[in-house]
Amino acid sequence: MRFQGSDRYVATPDLMLAVNAALTLKRPLLVKGEPGTGKTMLAEEVAQALGMPLLQWHVKSTTKAQQGLYEYDAVSRLRDSQLADAESVAKVRDIRNYIVQGVLWQAFTAEQPVALLIDEIDKADIEFPNDLLREIDRMEFHVYETRETIRAKHRPLVFITSNNEKELPDAFLRRCFFHYIKFPDAETMQSIVDVHFPGLKRELLSRAMKTFFDIRGLPGLKKKPSTSELLDWLKLLVAEDIPLEALQSADDKVAIPPLVGALLKNEQDVTLFEKLVFMQRHNR
Ligand SMILES: Nc1ncnc2c1ncn2[C@@H]1O[C@H](COP(=O)(O)OP(=O)(O)OP(=O)(O)O)[C@@H](O)[C@H]1O
Ligand SMILES: [Mg+2]
Repeated sequence: MRFQGSDRYVATPDLMLAVNAALTLKRPLLVKGEPGTGKTMLAEEVAQALGMPLLQWHVKSTTKAQQGLYEYDAVSRLRDSQLADAESVAKVRDIRNYIVQGVLWQAFTAEQPVALLIDEIDKADIEFPNDLLREIDRMEFHVYETRETIRAKHRPLVFITSNNEKELPDAFLRRCFFHYIKFPDAETMQSIVDVHFPGLKRELLSRAMKTFFDIRGLPGLKKKPSTSELLDWLKLLVAEDIPLEALQSADDKVAIPPLVGALLKNEQDVTLFEKLVFMQRHNR
């Protein structure tokens, strides 16, 4: 099984290499990169390309590792125990009826090999990755309530994404294969845009790309626009049928692009950009 990219997702050779390395090593692939550079989509595309179902675990600041294994629903059991009918009595007696399987449990017990995405692991607290070391390493965990051990029938292909909001512990890193999705260069970006907008007018595209990379190159920008923002912006330019001249006049003067809110996401950045446009105009 090897990943070759897909017709909806542009994978650079080093990214394909990383996916295949993780497959060979049977270790999780830890993917980092700026927001909107296709980390989450990578897992979806690889799973699809390899014909594996994808189980997703979206991590939040309150997520605990245990929730990915199982949860014991004590409240339901207590409620059922207050009912007197025979069905409830029988149900309450077996604690297994109140064990709710988490996504790791489902991945471990699936009949076929599956892909598992642990998305945005850096959102949880620092204990979260540490609490999953053994599960990721040995692919098993113990259920104390029922005294059983759940072992993976097939080792899932694990993707872990991070936006770098927190450092991950060394012991956790040791168990992963790491890949940083670099921000796409102009050529790769062009291919990504082509995938999303196959019939886009070349001239509109090249002007929009120039504006986009100019904005990204502004020193001191708080939030650089990324791939997904360029795609949003292009979608708007097409939908609103924005004329070419609005993007950049023929004498190559810099102008504030229309619908800039798709690219710049805070007022400081918009002001910075306006100042630059103003200065360039005066220098001519
Ligand atoms: N290599 C690519 N090929 C095709 N589309 C891409 C690629 N990279 C990004 N995109 C587009 O950008 C969008 C955002 O990608 P995705 O949600 O995977 O980003 P992310 O890295 O997970 O971002 P975040 O860190 O904010 O979660 C995708 O829906 C897709 O349309
Ligand atoms: Mg994501």
